[in-house]
Amino acid sequence: MGKIVAVISSPRKDGNSETIVKAMVDAAKGKGHDVQVFNVATLKDRRGCIACMGCKKAGKCVLKDELTPVLDAIREADGVILSTAVYFGQPTGQYRLLEDRFFSFIDGSFTPNIPTGKKVAVVVSAGSAGADELAAQIAGRMVSYFKMEPIGNITMVDGNNPHTAEQNPQLLAQAAEIGSKF
Ligand SMILES: Cc1cc2nc3c(=O)[nH]c(=O)nc-3n(C[C@H](O)[C@H](O)[C@H](O)COP(=O)(O)O)c2cc1C
Repeated sequence: MGKIVAVISSPRKDGNSETIVKAMVDAAKGKGHDVQVFNVATLKDRRGCIACMGCKKAGKCVLKDELTPVLDAIREADGVILSTAVYFGQPTGQYRLLEDRFFSFIDGSFTPNIPTGKKVAVVVSAGSAGADELAAQIAGRMVSYFKMEPIGNITMVDGNNPHTAEQNPQLLAQAAEIGSKF
């Protein structure tokens, strides 16, 4: 039984990425894991990295805001689910603020100061294109910087309708399959 953290970062409530994440979360809970879900899009006091370098001395992020508990939970977790929509070919701003704060997970020599080997799954929803590439980029950074172990991505490119994912049982089954790998 492990600790899993899931991050939702689309500001669209009950959108496709959130629906897919929830299918993964349900499967991980079904395996007996303790799953914490953070919707960073709903937080008010959240900032990006301010390059203070305080983490290089303290070993963790010294900027205190509503992302602090998210960073703390990921630090402690055995597995992570990261999700975003594609906005102008990139992750949402809400996701980017969090990911920049992951700078606190490496020391001054770019060596992780968090336990390595955390399992990671990535979910990306797009209106028309770019989801596979973005998911691969996010997963790639988690592997190269933090030595996480990728267990699969779920992507979709027909996501302008927020109900597309919930109407796609095959996609949700794939998400559940990945969630059961935690
Ligand atoms: C500000 C903004 C920018 C977007 N940029 C893109 C884009 O570059 N490429 C794309 O395929 N879809 C783009 N979309 C569409 C979203 O990626 C798509 O609706 C996605 O499914 C939203 O995810 P969600 O359902 O989890 O909210 C954009 C939507 C918004 C609101």
